[in-house]
Amino acid sequence: MKLTRTKGLHGTISIPGDKSISHRSIMFGSIAEGTTTIRNFLMGADCLATIDCFRSMGIAIDVSDEVVTVHGKGLHGLTKPDKTLDVGNSGTTTRLISGILSGQDFDVTLSGDESLNSRPMKRIMTPLNAMGANITSVHNNGCAPLSIKGSKIKAFHYDSPVASAQVKSAVLLAGLYGDGPTSVTEPAVSRNHTELMLQSFGVDVRCEGKTATVYPPETMTGQDIVVPGDISSAAYFIVAGLITPDSQITMKHVGINQTRDGIIKVCQAMGADITLSNVQDDNGEPTADITVKSSKLHGTVIGGDLIPTLIDELPIIAVLACFAEGETVIKNAEELKVKESNRIDLMVNNLVRMGADAIATEDGMIIHGGKPLHGISINCKYDHRIAMTFSIAGINADGETVIEDAQCVDVSYPTFYDTLKQLAQ
Ligand code: S3P
Repeated sequence: MKLTRTKGLHGTISIPGDKSISHRSIMFGSIAEGTTTIRNFLMGADCLATIDCFRSMGIAIDVSDEVVTVHGKGLHGLTKPDKTLDVGNSGTTTRLISGILSGQDFDVTLSGDESLNSRPMKRIMTPLNAMGANITSVHNNGCAPLSIKGSKIKAFHYDSPVASAQVKSAVLLAGLYGDGPTSVTEPAVSRNHTELMLQSFGVDVRCEGKTATVYPPETMTGQDIVVPGDISSAAYFIVAGLITPDSQITMKHVGINQTRDGIIKVCQAMGADITLSNVQDDNGEPTADITVKSSKLHGTVIGGDLIPTLIDELPIIAVLACFAEGETVIKNAEELKVKESNRIDLMVNNLVRMGADAIATEDGMIIHGGKPLHGISINCKYDHRIAMTFSIAGINADGETVIEDAQCVDVSYPTFYDTLKQLAQ
């Protein structure tokens, strides 16, 4: 994909469904009784991998343009797949499904692509095995492929060392099969979609401060779900609208759950012209239309409890910082190193190649904004968020920017380039 400077971005767009919520709707629909319907489901490669995994465990899932229908078979209705579960590039599929599989009465192996199979899985193996699960890393390197032997699950409390919704969710989902309540305390609250959606499926989940507790249910009941637009996908157009001169973009029906809205707070702190309207609620998930206009921005400090609420947006926030006056510091974000790529290295190296003043730190980066960027050719290591981030940088840089592995945006935003083109017309 080749990108050059754009004069201005204008229009109203809808944003594809939230990736985290789409995954959970398939998983919870599969282990609920009866039918679950899902509207605005994200047809990205990661969520399609989740569908395939549950189909191979005997769940009928119908997919049409309008709606995905999951014919759930209840908490004990999954059946042993006849092959290795292919989780593709998806960390969420791997970690959440491991929680569910821990409590089944069959054994499974799961494996993904090269990037997925190099990401850390001890973070879920440790608590799940402490609950009585039997999960081993096939190559004994703490990564997938994982062998999961269905086991009896014990009630458990986990003090998680990391603010990770994937870790929290894996433990809570295993806890559905426990012999008593299971709770997780995090150092900072991560996204709470598992807690909210389990509640809507009729599960007793209680949240107090940084602790979430699940009480094993008798049954779960299928639901009708409308998936909000993904704020992590909207983030590219929020930033594009702010940094591209002469722009105004409205994004409809975007999820603004307060465990996910850190990017809005950062934009406001940097002086952005960003407004929220038409605030609504879908199954406990708040949504709004977001409008942004080209803005004069200044640097800020991003760290602490804010980090889990914008963890996936930090690459595009780094680009925002390049267009803000003064210094932006991103700290306490070491988790960026274990995403689909090492996002600290990949961001800083390539921003510097484009002419930015950026340095990597142990737990983030420091950027001095205001230096003009020029186009480069980038290999994004097949990381969808890096590809979309540098596309937005590319339309605000001199010369030509080439995203070598541009098709990796299919993981979370298959129509990204069409939407960008539409806004630039
Ligand atoms: C996700 C949680 C986050 C996020 C990922 C999706 C989820 O990961 O980066 O894209 O759906 O639970 P961590 O919870 O590991 O930070």
